[in-house]
Amino acid sequence: MAGWTEEHVPHVTEGCLAVVTGANTGLGLATTRVLAQRGATVVMACRNQEKAGAARRSLIDRGIAPARLRTASLDLADQSSITALAEELADDRIDLLINNAGLMAVPESRTVDGFETQFGVNHLGHMALTLRLLPRLNATPGARVVTLTSMGHRLGRIRLDDPNFRRGRYNRWTAYFQSKLANMLFAAELARRNAGRGALSMAAHPGYAATELGKDTGMQARALSVFDKVAAQPASAGAWPTLRAATDPTALNGTLYGPRRLVFGTAVPETPSRTALQEDLAVRLWDLSLHLLSPAKVTDPLA
Ligand SMILES: NC(=O)c1ccc[n+]([C@@H]2O[C@H](COP(=O)([O-])OP(=O)(O)OC[C@H]3O[C@@H](n4cnc5c(N)ncnc54)[C@H](OP(=O)(O)O)[C@@H]3O)[C@@H](O)[C@H]2O)c1
Repeated sequence: MAGWTEEHVPHVTEGCLAVVTGANTGLGLATTRVLAQRGATVVMACRNQEKAGAARRSLIDRGIAPARLRTASLDLADQSSITALAEELADDRIDLLINNAGLMAVPESRTVDGFETQFGVNHLGHMALTLRLLPRLNATPGARVVTLTSMGHRLGRIRLDDPNFRRGRYNRWTAYFQSKLANMLFAAELARRNAGRGALSMAAHPGYAATELGKDTGMQARALSVFDKVAAQPASAGAWPTLRAATDPTALNGTLYGPRRLVFGTAVPETPSRTALQEDLAVRLWDLSLHLLSPAKVTDPLA
């Protein structure tokens, strides 16, 4: 099957609304640009409104109509912020939810709700947002949810007995890989549970793209920034798998897209890791996540 670049992204229906998390930089900004250029109105859901405003202006400077770009506040490390965004969007049609925002290999810390930050932001934050928006998505014909994972999901293990690293030693990379495996398992489980109810659930990984993702990796940040210059593809190319997952009219529910050549290249369907294909693990993670999110009153609209 031929790979996709942004040239393949079709024009979307007039009035189509896309919500992109972490839209102010990196892959989220590249995704926002192309979706808006193809006719979508994009809600740029960002934790820092100054950065969101600057990113929006940079796209307007590139010729995108201001009306196609809305900014909204979203801190995935704070369940009350997720709830507030869902309330803000309660009357909108929602055609696309792009679960893009993420942190990588950050020092040990906790979200407002007490979750390990990478599990809490990358996985639990997006799961909560998705479940809160799912009724709107399912009410919009042709809607899709795209969740960003990573090649690193292949190295991940879900610590079912201690996902938030309350016991034992914290390892920033173990926590990142866990969160990215959780993203993959969540996308697959949502595809199964929501089948026939409306929105499709897809996954995408960018390979290796030069973005700000490595900035909090401590000692490795400098090496990664050098590596970015010599080995990474630009963020615009890293967004191709996301864009294909979001807009390819032939895409099947539950598909993972990634670059053709492992870390770079055109976007093609890809097979997740064996662990990510374990349906019983996906169910256990789903149930565990709902349990962890219950104090924030996140409920399962599919139950
Ligand atoms: N770049 C790669 O090679 C690569 C490889 C594999 C997977 N990925 C995945 O691709 C996605 C996008 O990453 P990127 O490479 O574009 O990284 P990036 O340039 O660092 O962008 C990450 C975005 O996430 C936002 N974010 C972080 N914490 C947040 C929070 N608590 N609430 C809301 N937004 C938050 C950041 O906001 P601030 O600007 O305010 O920090 C930023 O907008 C991530 O899910 C990442 O895991 C990337």
